[in-house]
Amino acid sequence: MKKIVIANWKMKLGLTESVNLAKEYKEKFKDFDLGEVVICPDFVSLNEVGKTINGSSVSLGAQNVFWEDKGAYTGEVSARTLKEVGCRYVLIGHSERRQYLQENYEMIHKKIKEVLNQEGIVPVVCIGETAEERKTDKRDYVILEQLHQALSGIDIMGDQQIIVAYEPSWAIGTGTAIEPSEAEYAHKIIHLALGDLFDNRIVEKNIRIIYGASVSSKIVKDFAKLDNMHGLLVGTASLDSEEFYKIAQAIVE
Ligand code: PGA
Repeated sequence: MKKIVIANWKMKLGLTESVNLAKEYKEKFKDFDLGEVVICPDFVSLNEVGKTINGSSVSLGAQNVFWEDKGAYTGEVSARTLKEVGCRYVLIGHSERRQYLQENYEMIHKKIKEVLNQEGIVPVVCIGETAEERKTDKRDYVILEQLHQALSGIDIMGDQQIIVAYEPSWAIGTGTAIEPSEAEYAHKIIHLALGDLFDNRIVEKNIRIIYGASVSSKIVKDFAKLDNMHGLLVGTASLDSEEFYKIAQAIVE
């Protein structure tokens, strides 16, 4: 599987800004085929950004999804609609949603299930510990618990994919990534836990583990060669197309 670099634009850009940045991405990644590149604008911008990058090597992703297919769920968006506007990826359970909207792993589990049901759209499942959990030595337990709650009982069929994004939430948006050795250790635990949940063949062929939190072009080289490092989820640095391009190039090399 190719490495993947996902840009999470969060709620930082309006529609016009998103389309303009998408145009820059399309141009920059014109000849980029060593890895996959995904941009996740807000819901309102998905359709226009999708049209902008149509036919290019940049794929579209959403920042959230609901767990039902259709119905009276005011304000929510279904995986079916995300597919309809061309999304190939969707972030699920980002730490900011867990922090500000009380999203929990029961909901995250249901969202993963629904997204896999729709086929052709890949869930990017976010996990990671808080500062408090790290300080009190609970990190390993928290990561394992999150993975089990999110993925127990999930079936991965054929060439369906899942991406697990390890994002220590205490380092998100701070400008300082964690030590590469700490990321490598966390990815190793995740890899082992996935081995308990799925057949080894599936772990190797259908699941990627990526890192996110304060990734920049300055530190990316130290992360590129780590074991079980299949890509990156990038927030702040993804708002600058040149900086993001440098990050993407360094991780796929
Ligand atoms: P950051 O955000 O790169 O700004 O730390 C990463 C994320 O929240 O996905």
